[in-house]
Amino acid sequence: MFKLDTDELNKESNQNQENNQIKQIIEMSMKAFNGQPVVLLPILHELQNTMGYISETVITLLAEALNLSRADVYGVVSFYHDFRHTTPGKYIVHLCRAESCQAMGMNVLEQFTKQTLDIDYHQTTEDGMFSLEPVYCLGNCACSPSVKISNQVYSDMNPHKMKQLLDSLRVKTNRVDVL
Ligand code: FES
Repeated sequence: MFKLDTDELNKESNQNQENNQIKQIIEMSMKAFNGQPVVLLPILHELQNTMGYISETVITLLAEALNLSRADVYGVVSFYHDFRHTTPGKYIVHLCRAESCQAMGMNVLEQFTKQTLDIDYHQTTEDGMFSLEPVYCLGNCACSPSVKISNQVYSDMNPHKMKQLLDSLRVKTNRVDVL
């Protein structure tokens, strides 16, 4: 007699759902770039935007779809620092490293943020709450230094404001988790 392992079945069904989602994104991106040379980078960006990071499954399915080897795709993914290899934190903190923000004190803010979160760029805090990424101009130069978190740009930032912002995001998340 079979004994159904529901955990195993759920795991398999989630994996199938994820694979279908990845295939759908690849298909749509390939249609969008129809007639042009294979554009691997934009498809990878689209996949990362939706899936959060570039997993082994993404690499395999994308290589199959574009008729490339896994090594070809992996080579591109590892060349660009923009691509994440692990699940990102709940909030991705983007610090602007372009000229105007640097001139207005981003160096100090950068150091403070790294120390406070205890991570460097391209890393995620142990509790999975924050990832830290550099960005090169957020189009908000008049209000430097600028920071972006979850599609929201914050102006005239300094260590004090950053501390308040990170604390409020932690409180907000913990409150939602308890409910
Ligand atoms: S230089 Fe930072 S927003 Fe433009």
